[in-house]
Amino acid sequence: MSGRLEDMASQVDTLCRKAQAQAAAADTLDALQAAQASYLGRQGALNEILRGIGRLPPEQRGQVGQLANRAKKQVEECFAARRAELEQAAANAEKQRAAQYDPTIPARREGLGSLHPVTIVQRQIEEVFGRLGFIVATGPEMESEYYNFEALNIPPMHPARDMQDTFWLGNGKVLRTQTSAVQVRAMEKYGAPLRIIAPGRCFRYEAIDPSHENTFFQLEGLMIDRNISIANLIAVMKLLLTEVFQREVEIRLRPGYFPFVEPGFELDIRCEICGGTGCPTCKQSGWIEILPCGMVHPNVLKYGGIDPLEYTGFAFGLGLTRLAMMKYGIRDIRVMNSGDLRALVPAEKLTGPTIAAVT
Ligand code: DAH
Repeated sequence: MSGRLEDMASQVDTLCRKAQAQAAAADTLDALQAAQASYLGRQGALNEILRGIGRLPPEQRGQVGQLANRAKKQVEECFAARRAELEQAAANAEKQRAAQYDPTIPARREGLGSLHPVTIVQRQIEEVFGRLGFIVATGPEMESEYYNFEALNIPPMHPARDMQDTFWLGNGKVLRTQTSAVQVRAMEKYGAPLRIIAPGRCFRYEAIDPSHENTFFQLEGLMIDRNISIANLIAVMKLLLTEVFQREVEIRLRPGYFPFVEPGFELDIRCEICGGTGCPTCKQSGWIEILPCGMVHPNVLKYGGIDPLEYTGFAFGLGLTRLAMMKYGIRDIRVMNSGDLRALVPAEKLTGPTIAAVT
């Protein structure tokens, strides 16, 4: 063997051992692939040698060629063996992971999201009224003029229609401006005596600002029976507000005009922010207007097919969105329909019960 040949032989030998060491050291399939390419790839070290054979004297080519091919085979085998090892290890790890996975473990609670503040307050009120024997009634959001206005003692051309900027639809219907629209529907469906609450979405053609929205929630209440009086109205309203705010609330009634009640009231609660001495939140009055209500107008009972000489009733219309904002200290109504997750923090983390600015 000439010196040149010996050189080549030892070069191939070294290469082989290095390749083996690198294959053994590769601990991922990617690393193995990269190492393999550096030896066996087109630009790899072994090809380099094979390409060099052409430059050798013809009598040496056969031997070196054999040597290099044997080396190539060896290197290929050792990479293949290592690949099989790594693939087996990955399969084992996967199997172990699968065995550890327990689909019956309960989900982690934190970060799960929560109900919308309006939904929280709505459910709370439904629960309170459920105990008092009220059922939850619903009506359509796309409502007829009849139920939204006429059957509530608001005839066409009545100025009270102007108080509620209305979305009129092409089909002659309206987007209901108030959940009061459910009143006569419920009377027709269930007759008297009757106890319902009707929470739901309402719409008004309003410019949006921190305290006005064109889409908001109200919760209507209606109780009709023999001998229902203002005393019943006050008792139920006080219970409702005490439950919502989780404390005794001081209330007052003022006259208020709504065509579907007579007498009609504005029910105020003592301002929580200033304790009644006057502040910007209560517009210096010491009171916050929260709950319009009244005794159901005889005309409305008649529209509902109920004899006003036999039955009386009270009704109230709670601004559910506004109440939720007060309860949780949310100052901008635009947050309520925005999908802003900060309005959806879990109930127990919300500030409250407070009555904050909703101005
Ligand atoms: N529907 C009225 C509004 O949206 C609120 C209201 C007032 C409802 C008095 C009532 C009521 O049931 O008795 O402005």
